Amino acid sequence: MLGLSIWCTNLNLSSRSLAIVLIVTLTLVYFSYSFNACLLASISRTLQQSNLRNLLSLTTPPQSQDKTIALNGSSTSSSSSSSSSTTNIDGSDSLFSNSSSDGASPKYQLLRQQGLRPLRNLPSTLIIGVKKSGTRALLEFIRLHPDVRAAGSEVHFFDRHYQRGLRWYRHHMPYTIEGQITMEKTPSYFVTKEVPQRVHHMNVSTKLLIVVRDPVTRAISDYTQAASKKADMKRFEQLAFVNGSYSVVDTNWGPVKIGVYARYLERWLLYFPLSQLLFISGERLIMDPAYEIGRVQDFLGLKRVVTEKHFYFNATKGFPCLFKSEARSTPHCLGKTKGRNHPHIDPNAIERLREFYRPFNNKFYQLTGINFAWP
Ligand SMILES: *[C@@H]1O[C@H](CO)[C@@H](O)[C@H](O)[C@H]1NC(C)=O
Ligand SMILES: *[C@@H]1O[C@H](CO)[C@@H](O)[C@H](O)[C@H]1NC(C)=O
Ligand SMILES: *[C@@H]1O[C@H](CO)[C@@H](O)[C@H](O)[C@H]1NC(C)=O
Ligand SMILES: *[C@@H]1O[C@H](CO)[C@@H](O)[C@H](O)[C@H]1NC(C)=O
Ligand SMILES: *[C@@H]1O[C@H](CO)[C@@H](O)[C@H](O)[C@H]1NC(C)=O
Repeated sequence: MLGLSIWCTNLNLSSRSLAIVLIVTLTLVYFSYSFNACLLASISRTLQQSNLRNLLSLTTPPQSQDKTIALNGSSTSSSSSSSSSTTNIDGSDSLFSNSSSDGASPKYQLLRQQGLRPLRNLPSTLIIGVKKSGTRALLEFIRLHPDVRAAGSEVHFFDRHYQRGLRWYRHHMPYTIEGQITMEKTPSYFVTKEVPQRVHHMNVSTKLLIVVRDPVTRAISDYTQAASKKADMKRFEQLAFVNGSYSVVDTNWGPVKIGVYARYLERWLLYFPLSQLLFISGERLIMDPAYEIGRVQDFLGLKRVVTEKHFYFNATKGFPCLFKSEARSTPHCLGKTKGRNHPHIDPNAIERLREFYRPFNNKFYQLTGINFAWP
């Protein structure tokens, strides 16, 4: 400053205007500095929040062992855009559990400070069936919604693991924050005798999603899947009928039995009002996914976030594909095993099966109030 003032006095011309210029410059520097600091802080906060959200909306690989989560500000703000693919909040069961001193851990405190309290909740919505009707597609589509969180794999709680109790079941659910819906899909729930009562016992308000499809194509699809796993499987026609003629349908054979939807639905209706059930056409879910997903979002009281923008149709595969999904940021179609080619089935066998299902289908239309118009 001394040198500066000497220099000013030495020059002695327009020293006043020089001083003014200096002050203005310093002021500008000061303001731009503090503005940038503010901006940086707010950007880092936003990144941090969006990173948290990413973490919470990741898919749930069953029992992942990954326990490294960078929830602290310093490291996440710089790498938030890419870090979500390597971190996984779901696998780390001990992170927020009550068993240790986790409640006091910095990670937990950070979430609390932001008003987010991730918890594992029992599902409020179940996809209960029907096998080979498009339940996986439904789950993949609806979980595009940021307010839907689903268990990654079929938990089979109400049919196979009921004795383990609700605590065990909840432990298999993903973490959710307030306002997010917890969902689980196990298609065998629909046909398992004890399940309606058990779900009712868990929560009478549980919402139930049921994807249904023409029972004849469903049976063939079911058979095709089984045959792909077993080398010397008998022909479909031999299994679907008793004694090799097409006169008597073998209603004890699983793939045929499951298609008698009305029979199973009656049991569910003993425990749940029709208003808590939503029926989704498996055929329409493939032809016009946006339409069916719109209905599902309405039913669940969600904003219509998943729309036709999320889907495109792959003509080669004959299946809808997603531009991007929770698990992948690149487009993908339904899994390899989905939409496999069906074997040739004798048209007479198919005609006989249609005849067999007709009265049951009509009963189903009557119970649901929806005419699915299966042939
Ligand atoms: C943040 O996380 C990184 C990586 O896990 C760790 O090295 C660092 O010490 C943490 N910082 C704070 C303040 O917790
Ligand atoms: C959680 O921890 C508190 C205090 O350690 C304990 O009182 C409470 O029973 C625990 N809750 C559960 C569900 O374990
Ligand atoms: C049952 O489900 C409803 C709706 O999801 C929820 O508000 C309620 O808290 C649940 N009840 C119990 C006992 O979990
Ligand atoms: C099928 O054949 C067995 C003997 O081969 C006979 O005992 C049975 O009654 C037949 N069932 C029907 C439904 O025709
Ligand atoms: C469509 O499906 C075919 C067969 O599975 C696949 O090879 C192709 O990459 C898909 N195209 C698009 C655009 O997804």
